[in-house]
Amino acid sequence: MEIITKAPRGTSDKLPSDINKWQTIESAAAAVAQAYGCKEIRTPIFEHTELFQRGVGSTTDVVQKEMYTFNDKKGRSITLKPEGTAGAVRAAIENGLLNEALPLKLYYFTRCFRYEAPQSGRMREFNQFGVEIFGADSPVSDAEVICMVNDIFVFLGLEGIRLEINSIGCPKCRAEYQNALREYYGQFRDKLCDTCKDRLEKNPMRLLDCKSEICHSFAEKAPVILDYLCSDCSDHFEGVKTALKALNINYTINPRIVRGLDYYTNTVFEFISDNCGTQGTVCGGGRYNGLVEEIGGRSMPGLGFAMGLERIIMVMDAQNAKYKPAKQCDLFIAGTDSDATRYAAILAHKLREYGFWAECDIVGRSLKAQMKYADKIGANFSMVIGGDEMNSQKAELKNMKTGEKITVSIGENFAANINSILAFSE
Ligand code: HAM
Repeated sequence: MEIITKAPRGTSDKLPSDINKWQTIESAAAAVAQAYGCKEIRTPIFEHTELFQRGVGSTTDVVQKEMYTFNDKKGRSITLKPEGTAGAVRAAIENGLLNEALPLKLYYFTRCFRYEAPQSGRMREFNQFGVEIFGADSPVSDAEVICMVNDIFVFLGLEGIRLEINSIGCPKCRAEYQNALREYYGQFRDKLCDTCKDRLEKNPMRLLDCKSEICHSFAEKAPVILDYLCSDCSDHFEGVKTALKALNINYTINPRIVRGLDYYTNTVFEFISDNCGTQGTVCGGGRYNGLVEEIGGRSMPGLGFAMGLERIIMVMDAQNAKYKPAKQCDLFIAGTDSDATRYAAILAHKLREYGFWAECDIVGRSLKAQMKYADKIGANFSMVIGGDEMNSQKAELKNMKTGEKITVSIGENFAANINSILAFSE
């Protein structure tokens, strides 16, 4: 097949026949986020590369191996967003949103780009829904953010999604932990992948989520961060657990979750499903108390999550969850000749003002072919306009499912008259 008729590896088209799936998830996620007081933000699909190097972390897999980076015509290094948090933080700082009422609660839908080996549930271009909250430090805020994810899954009717949580502490307690990791991984230095040999000194926590098989196998017995938390971080984690229990949210503690991005502090969490191919994580997030400052803002706690929408669809499909039904054409108005078709176009236009999906012939088909088309697109009603109808200002409205016909006026108040018939036909 010619290359131009094939989408690049790791990307996918979202086809009209599936768009109701996307709309179902997007409207549920937005409704739940809005109920928590979140407002939508839209930020550019590309940013200066430095934002991700500083924000996501220069020793992460995402930055070292997976970014789509290029120089623009002026030689500036630009990167397609690999995730949504860094851009949201940049936009909040740049536009002074952090000087407004706090906590600031934002939500977004974004495409993300990561040059990974494509697998079922792992794409090079994928879609995230995310939430970022700034200026909230109490453990209740961690629990609320987790509860929001849970609410979205409940809203969508999803089942069996497990929540795993961990705390990765603050820079203070992490220093000791990193030394313990250096000591542990030091024994296997020669066997580590080249990237991890380098990370061992710079950022040993990254070894824990290295995707190479051999490094991955050493992670199993590595020291765990929970044994190294300082008392503030330990208290915070206890507070999160208590608040989750109060909200009736089940979780398990997985001390091996470190997340693949460098900005996290304290609470980290993942929602995992067995229904999304080789990739189990449908949603990941956590707290990032140092990120706003790292990117150039004032010291400000932050936390959030992002869910992969392709993976949510995989889970919904596997569980036969219900999507909002795709819309159908309300009325197809056929014309017997070009005069009648022009009249049909006027009638269709009137109906559209009422929000109905109305169509007429725009390709010059015969009456028979027009009716075949109406059938093919699944129109709920049809109507034929000809000379008689235009003279009498009356036409037959046919219910395509039952075959029932009623005569309606096609004069001045046409749309107002048939409005309720079309609306209550389902
Ligand atoms: P993340 O864990 O890298 O976190 O990605 C979040 C979610 O995006 C994953 O749980 C997964 O569902 C989806 N995802 C990630 N990579 C792929 C891929 N290659 N193909 C398909 N889906 C994928 C973040 O991006 C953080 N920004 C989340 C966050 C927001 N933390 C705090 N605030």
